[in-house]
Amino acid sequence: MKTIRDVDVEDKTVLVRVDMNVPLENGEITSDFRLRASLPTLEYLREAGAAKIVLMTHLGRPEGYDEKFSSEVVAERLNELIGRVYFVDGVDSKEVAEKVEALKAGEILMLQNLRFYEGEKKNSAEFMQGIIEAVRPDVYVNDAFAVSHRAHASVAAVRELMPVYMGLLLEKEVENLSKVVNNPARPFVVIIGGAKVEDKEPLVKKFAPIADTVVVAGKIAADGYAAQADNIYVVEDFDEDAEGNRLDAGPLATAKIASLITDASTILWNGLLGKAEDPAFATASTIVAELMGEKETATTVVCGGDTVGFVEGLMEEHPLLDYTLLSTGGGAALEFLLGNKMPGLE
Ligand code: 3PG
Repeated sequence: MKTIRDVDVEDKTVLVRVDMNVPLENGEITSDFRLRASLPTLEYLREAGAAKIVLMTHLGRPEGYDEKFSSEVVAERLNELIGRVYFVDGVDSKEVAEKVEALKAGEILMLQNLRFYEGEKKNSAEFMQGIIEAVRPDVYVNDAFAVSHRAHASVAAVRELMPVYMGLLLEKEVENLSKVVNNPARPFVVIIGGAKVEDKEPLVKKFAPIADTVVVAGKIAADGYAAQADNIYVVEDFDEDAEGNRLDAGPLATAKIASLITDASTILWNGLLGKAEDPAFATASTIVAELMGEKETATTVVCGGDTVGFVEGLMEEHPLLDYTLLSTGGGAALEFLLGNKMPGLE
């Protein structure tokens, strides 16, 4: 796939599929991480002179039209971040066509939540055709890495209708996740934590032949994960609560993981090392996040919703922490790493 750098967008109408599927609580956005991650593409398009920028996202998993999941809240927050962002309650209506027509240079129009319309999840080319007829884009951009494991119209069927260019976020995700699978600088350390062994075991098995060391931590280690290869290190000492529950990696394991990170040139981390929502059991995850974020030359990739959310929280207190990639794709990143079919990227 070509990227937006390979196409002339000056004076063009650009339709961009983003993944601004942000968490909501009582109608408020609780993390705008995915919005901020999408900004480089939008800033690039503005700087490159795009005449009109039209955005589409999904939000939540509504069944049909449901005001609670209107993408208007996303448009409002985006407007606070970069200004000149407007919203229209529709995707393929006459009103959409009129609002697109009225946009001035560099202005952004957010369409309604794609999942209000059944054609999106049915991967319907007709549905996309309707949007294309209303918006009349010259250029179509897919920047929605986090939904690229879904066969949905705005990332998959659309390719029957128009050339699709990668946005900068999609490119960054694909480039860095590919690098850890195909061409990691060594030593390469993979740290797998979290709770569900059925989710994490495929990753351990995938990376054991690729990485120099795979660390297994979190609840899966506490429950007694059995390593099947010499380069798999399963955490053995734990911090416990008063009842003896193993809720964090202990000091010996944390020191060993810290030295692996210090020596590594590539680190991939998925899954918290303890019950990190409780500060008493967030020590190992904090040390891993800090050591990775302080590394200057290594490739450091963090993926998984909880893990990235934890790192984001830490970065609010320590803004100098820096990572090669904090993946926006929860499920999508895992599917990509496992080499599974990605309908949005095929
Ligand atoms: C995500 O949050 O992982 C993506 O936006 C995809 O959302 P979905 O799991 O509802 O398809």
